[in-house]
Amino acid sequence: MLDKLERLPADIILGLAAACRADPNPAKVDLSVGIYMDEQGLCPVFESVRRAQQALVGEEVTKAYMAPAGDEAFNLGMQRLVLGEGSPALLDARVGSIQTPGGCGALRIGAEIIRAAAPDARVWVSDPTWPNHFPLLSSVGLSFKTYRYYDPASHDVDFDAMVADLKGATAGDVVLLHGCCHNPCGADLALQQWAVIADMAERQGFTPFIDFAYQGLGDGLDRDAAGMRLMVARLPEVIIAASCSKNMGLYRERVGIVLFVCRDETNAQALVSQGLVAGRRIYSMPPAHGALLAGRILSNPALEASWRDELAAMCQRINGLRSGLRQRLEQESGRDFGFIEREKGMFSFLGLSVEQAQRLRREYSIYMLDSSRINVAGVNDHNLDYLATSVAAVL
Ligand SMILES: Cc1ncc(COP(=O)(O)O)c(C=O)c1O
Repeated sequence: MLDKLERLPADIILGLAAACRADPNPAKVDLSVGIYMDEQGLCPVFESVRRAQQALVGEEVTKAYMAPAGDEAFNLGMQRLVLGEGSPALLDARVGSIQTPGGCGALRIGAEIIRAAAPDARVWVSDPTWPNHFPLLSSVGLSFKTYRYYDPASHDVDFDAMVADLKGATAGDVVLLHGCCHNPCGADLALQQWAVIADMAERQGFTPFIDFAYQGLGDGLDRDAAGMRLMVARLPEVIIAASCSKNMGLYRERVGIVLFVCRDETNAQALVSQGLVAGRRIYSMPPAHGALLAGRILSNPALEASWRDELAAMCQRINGLRSGLRQRLEQESGRDFGFIEREKGMFSFLGLSVEQAQRLRREYSIYMLDSSRINVAGVNDHNLDYLATSVAAVL
């Protein structure tokens, strides 16, 4: 029976990272996977995480299952971090949450809830979006519509096209939005544009589902959350999928959370109960280690302050890399790369053709997606000049 199954191709992004690892060229540059890398090309452990871990290892007395909804300190800390200190939705107790295995787990539980509430719901996704949105959401049987989002000519959001397309979203539909640091394009909505989408949701009755995987990597924790919080303040229902993979560097620990912002407390509790049944069916119990670390950081003011400092430094470094890359590319190519500095978070489309991106890989050992999406955090002082001269050479 099993021998009927064929071998599937590797995930494109993970396949590129593997090809880069195997490349013997000492000048190789990996700009493929969306992980933060420091000056040494390493994805570092936050010092605050290290301290939380030392304390946890010393104090841990059991490896019994977690509660199905996860660690309480983690849930409460994340609700506050995502929705903001003193959030009216939190004060009104109209928020429920479940700790999930990463942001992906949160997206999947969110999709399960949508499917349970509205089996015929269409999920509107931005064009382009993170490719993993499709398998994560379609695996529960939801169908998709796309809305235009990114204009390659201006390297910015094509907001008129987005609004025109979303006029087709109706009550019972879901609109998936990137809360900040859009993956793959780095072009984010301005606050006034969030307000327009909130108006449309109010008028047309669709439900926003906000993928919030990069809080703190664009303009800081609160500014990155402003659009999402505006939606929460204005609308009766919002689902949010958040992650600590990037902003705490807990990628492999699988730490995420799905938040249900509902009409009232009763509905929030109903959704949590539905999400728990879905989680039990898929992975049974959430993993402990990463959430215990994040929960510890978010419930200890000294640890949280030091984590916030580390994250702010990381964010500042990414924005510095954006300026440096823009400058060097402009010097080498004589073209305008100002968009790199305007975008947010880890990603940018350089605007190269597929052939140019592939040539960079083949001839220069510079690994980016065929779409020329780069992980800006893969740039550092050692590879910046090589990257800029190589890109100029293929242009
Ligand atoms: C847009 C987006 N959403 C969600 C995730 C989920 O990440 P994780 O499951 O590792 O927390 C990622 C990770 O790359 C992402 O880029």
